[in-house]
Amino acid sequence: MKGLVNTKVNHVELREVEKPQLVAADDAIIRITLTTICGSDLHLIHGHMPTTPGYVVGHEYVGVVEKVGSGVKDFRPGDRVIGPAAPFCGQCERCRAGHIAQCLRGGIHGSGAEFGGLPGTQSEYIRVPFADVNLVKVPDELSDEQVLFVGDILSTGYFSAEKGDILPGDSVVVFGAGPVGLCAVHAARLFSPGQIILVDIDSHRLEVGAKLGATSTIRADQADVLAVIGALTGGKGADVAIEAAGVEQTFQQAVRCVGIGGRVSIVSIFGRDVALPLPEIFMKNIRIEMGLSYLGNMKRLVRMIQTGTLDLTPLITHRIKLGEIAHGYELFEKRLDNVIKIAITP
Ligand SMILES: NC(=O)c1ccc[n+]([C@@H]2O[C@H](COP(=O)([O-])OP(=O)(O)OC[C@H]3O[C@@H](n4cnc5c(N)ncnc54)[C@H](O)[C@@H]3O)[C@@H](O)[C@H]2O)c1
Ligand SMILES: [Zn+2]
Ligand SMILES: [Zn+2]
Repeated sequence: MKGLVNTKVNHVELREVEKPQLVAADDAIIRITLTTICGSDLHLIHGHMPTTPGYVVGHEYVGVVEKVGSGVKDFRPGDRVIGPAAPFCGQCERCRAGHIAQCLRGGIHGSGAEFGGLPGTQSEYIRVPFADVNLVKVPDELSDEQVLFVGDILSTGYFSAEKGDILPGDSVVVFGAGPVGLCAVHAARLFSPGQIILVDIDSHRLEVGAKLGATSTIRADQADVLAVIGALTGGKGADVAIEAAGVEQTFQQAVRCVGIGGRVSIVSIFGRDVALPLPEIFMKNIRIEMGLSYLGNMKRLVRMIQTGTLDLTPLITHRIKLGEIAHGYELFEKRLDNVIKIAITP
């Protein structure tokens, strides 16, 4: 089968690779019907995450069950499914404590041996471990595109909003209108905030954010971000800030834009230290949350897509075949042609 291999740092190549096989009784083999490129793939390929090249990339997918191990009870060949970017066992002491992102037997698809050596989805087939724990059936009436982001960026956006403890009427600021920030905007609506302010430097992304639920948008390169947020919140500062831009400046702005008792939820991956205004954080009793996203809400998110409460399909700006993935990376990485997300068909 074909798979996009991270052959060395800063290089990927579509190659003939071995088709994954069942290894354990609770495994399933999934034929990929739709996958994507994620910002985290770029972090991996550029060597910002500690991993050894030589693996197939990709972790966001929809597919059809091809084969199941003898221990799999809930799935059969032919079932349409999605699964988390980071599968977990559901049984180890960390999983039982709710820390499924740190599962002792889990990993992240398409991220190399250091992350569990799980096959990448930018290919034709993957092996999913602990299939009964991880796979979620896709309701017949939903298309692949409608559920494509559930196992990664939608779960992450929802996680970021949940970690912000948004209360009805709250003022929420989201930094970064990339795929994750846009999912955060859309998910923040579920907690009935009074306003959602979206900050980015890209007008097209801000426009998409307004369609997904942002009530105000700020061009960070054209305005004094903190002053505008101050004015929009009647001088008291925001209640919640979500950081999904991944730059030091937005981390600092996220902390500075909230008022007393503010909650700051960071989902970006920072590969280095960031300076923080600790006296201000102390005097205002600001709470900062960050970490690997919780991928245990997939069924809940699918139900909300089914009822029409969530619809992330406006994020899909491009549709390509796996054979064209080199072009897809070029578009995605350089943000050409107003790209947000690319749906890739093997
Ligand atoms: N916590 C997790 O488990 C988890 C899961 C998935 C992704 N992530 C991370 O979330 C982050 C966001 O992902 P993404 O795919 O949306 O990234 P992205 O790079 O596509 O989006 C970042 C956005 O921030 C904007 N931006 C850049 N500088 C800015 C500034 N000074 N002010 C305002 N906006 C600015 C960019 O224009 C862009 O739209 C990444 O770091 C990604 O790796 C984390
Ligand atoms: Zn991802
Ligand atoms: Zn576990």
